[in-house]
Amino acid sequence: MKTYQADDGTTLAYHEAGSGPVTLLLVHGFPLSHTMWREQCEGLSDACRVVVPDLRGYGDSPLGGWPADGESPTLGRYAQDLAALIRALEPDGPVVLAGFSMGGYIALEMVRRGTTGFDALALIDTKATADDGPGVATRLKMADKINEWGAARVAELMRPKLFAAGTSEAVVEETARVISATRPAAIAASQRAMAARPDSTDLLDSIQVPTLVLVGAEDTLTPPSAMRAIAEGVPNSRYVEIAEAGHMAPVEQPAAVNDALRAFVRLSDRT
Ligand code: MLT
Repeated sequence: MKTYQADDGTTLAYHEAGSGPVTLLLVHGFPLSHTMWREQCEGLSDACRVVVPDLRGYGDSPLGGWPADGESPTLGRYAQDLAALIRALEPDGPVVLAGFSMGGYIALEMVRRGTTGFDALALIDTKATADDGPGVATRLKMADKINEWGAARVAELMRPKLFAAGTSEAVVEETARVISATRPAAIAASQRAMAARPDSTDLLDSIQVPTLVLVGAEDTLTPPSAMRAIAEGVPNSRYVEIAEAGHMAPVEQPAAVNDALRAFVRLSDRT
């Protein structure tokens, strides 16, 4: 485990594998941790430097007192943390910022803020639209109830929505285990922050960097239709659909996801 300092002084964790001119920064989804990228760390370490942070409150990273009493959390907190991480990495070549699901919402927040320091973007099983009213209400209910429920209940609620029909029980169980181990306070903060996120559709045509748009063909949470709309909105994009994968494509079909990421990393390597 390695650490870096966020701009509020909190020490946050990341892990890394491999080396190379290109840095591939893989941002996990909700409510997971860097462990979702195990197959990418193993499979891509010969191609680039793979960096997998634990977002604030997840895995090895503490919440660091966020959100403060009375503060309404936003995805901006994670966006600032990742901007600090990119600076701390001192990359000496191109950086590919890849966000999975909530990680993709955060990447789009970084675009909104004009964050610099990345040269290509990968949006993985995510969407550009904001939540509708019932979606916001569901998130806020979970945020309010999570201390009573515990994270294991979140794992049970999410499990039927995350995987393709043919995904192995071992993969399903491992994801449920990671969700169940998540701090309730991190779940509450993320749900409130995601509920408050604005629609990013209007941002898409301002994205100047090459963008990979990748989705599991059986993803029902952030479906191919939503991802195709992103690809159509971003000027320099390539769209990849992964067969026999649901929302959790990187753990369900790691070889196919790694092939797509490897080809994209190669495009970003100007050496
Ligand atoms: C995720 O995988 O990060 C979540 O399912 C995203 C969400 O709740 O919208």
